[in-house]
Amino acid sequence: MDIELRKIHKRFGPVHANNDINVKFLHGRIVGILGENGAGKSTLMKILSGFQPADAGEILIDNRVIDYTGPSAAIANGVGMLQQDPLDVGAFTVLENFIYGGAEGITLQRAQAEARLRELAARFGFELDPHQPIDNLLIAQRQQLEIIRLLALGVETLILDEPTTGISAEQKEILFDALRKLAHDEGLVVLLVSHKLEDVIDLCDEVVVLRAGILVGDMDMPVSDENLTGAVIAETKRQLVTMMFGEELEAQSRPQFDKGAPVLEARDLVVHDLRLDMQPISLTARAGEVIGLAGLGGSGQELFMRACARLQRVNSGSLQFDGENILGASYRQLFRRGFIFGADGRLEEGLISGLTLTEHTALVADDSLQIDWKSVQKRTDERIKQYRIKGRAFDNIEQLSGGNQQRMLIGLLPDDPKLLILEQPTRGLDVDSARWIWTQLLERCGRGAAIIFNSSDLEELVTYSDRIFVFFAGRAHEVPNAKDTSIDELGYLIGGEFKAASAPHPPAPPQGGKGS
Ligand SMILES: Nc1ncnc2c1ncn2[C@@H]1O[C@H](COP(=O)(O)OP(=O)(O)OP(=O)(O)O)[C@@H](O)[C@H]1O
Ligand SMILES: [Mg+2]
Repeated sequence: MDIELRKIHKRFGPVHANNDINVKFLHGRIVGILGENGAGKSTLMKILSGFQPADAGEILIDNRVIDYTGPSAAIANGVGMLQQDPLDVGAFTVLENFIYGGAEGITLQRAQAEARLRELAARFGFELDPHQPIDNLLIAQRQQLEIIRLLALGVETLILDEPTTGISAEQKEILFDALRKLAHDEGLVVLLVSHKLEDVIDLCDEVVVLRAGILVGDMDMPVSDENLTGAVIAETKRQLVTMMFGEELEAQSRPQFDKGAPVLEARDLVVHDLRLDMQPISLTARAGEVIGLAGLGGSGQELFMRACARLQRVNSGSLQFDGENILGASYRQLFRRGFIFGADGRLEEGLISGLTLTEHTALVADDSLQIDWKSVQKRTDERIKQYRIKGRAFDNIEQLSGGNQQRMLIGLLPDDPKLLILEQPTRGLDVDSARWIWTQLLERCGRGAAIIFNSSDLEELVTYSDRIFVFFAGRAHEVPNAKDTSIDELGYLIGGEFKAASAPHPPAPPQGGKGS
């Protein structure tokens, strides 16, 4: 199947999210869709997959104009999309989800459906137990389920919107191998929206770049197996960044701050969890210090961060904030003392859909029941400006692009916190935005905040951390000389290099949790 988009336009109020887009996507090709936050990537992909109508323009499949009326019509025409935040039904099992998501009219028998599910999963090396509840799955497995569900429905164009945020390097390889098979062996069109340029260079055959709603360029990617040296990758990245932002980005260096008194001290902290065998963890974060937590998703780093923020039970050990025991404290109490926990998962935990940006500002403004709307309004406008959020104070948060939601989340942080514990602070941000968010965070660090963050982006960990702890199967190990550690070395450590040295018996593979 070949796809052509002609003269696509989409406006949201004053925002021209897609402005006269003309592009062809040919069968057997993996195409990267690139662009800064708010450039219009998700909008275009939602139009192609029937999730929203274009204001004007045509979609052609194999040279025939197609009129969509919704996602199931798109799927019936062979076009399916994995959402930026996977939507599935939590209470169902994998198999039930597979059946439930089937097209109307072809209700498979349970046994038949299970056989089909197993066959498709095996073909792509996906590990999916048909009888697991969806809630127990990693993000990567939910994606795998969604992919085979769409394939079972006969999709020939597969669209993935930022599929690698929050999945481990190993899971990413499995996903990429499946996508290569689908495009190069089976002739599907695969469209990948991503901010991770290394991934794009690794996987895609070509890219198209959007800027402020306009398609500003396209480019073939170097052929993977041959010639993909560090120099070629670096040069390709430079070209992509220039196309995306209209200029090269200067190298960012990390300022060093004097380390002050301990802000958070965990001593032999054993976090309670039924699935993971959590071992005692000792870690001290000082004022002015950035501590990065590395590890595959579900290795214990998320549990540890939540335990520190008093959102997860602790079995034993001690935990002090500002020299005081906080094991009996609630997060709400800590928050008032400048201890800030920033959850990822945007619209699940950090932000509330249905509320405007102003209402979000009001929520964190103070504890009194009297809201001073005038000052809240002013503060919201300041934040929109300061954090260069593409959106208006009265927009509902879910109307913002993914990256702009993340900016808003960071924008809600207070100016002078003592401690920031942040889950994946730059998830879904374009390269420029991610740097910019770090500038904001490091400013707070320079004023004496301690920062603890986790990330699946090794480059981010190596660039910004003073010290790095690697989590593996519920254990934490400090990386010696984190500042001189290369990304490759860190990758090995995350894969379990520490385990041989310190685990008395073979550690269980990481499980549970939602991505790193
Ligand atoms: N439902 C909506 N209501 C109002 N504005 C919207 C809506 N959906 C998107 N927009 C706006 O359209 C523009 C493009 O958004 P889109 O989600 O396509 O960006 P994106 O390129 O996917 O960005 P990101 O990389 O941050 O995900 C943004 O300015 C966004 O705020
Ligand atoms: Mg998007």
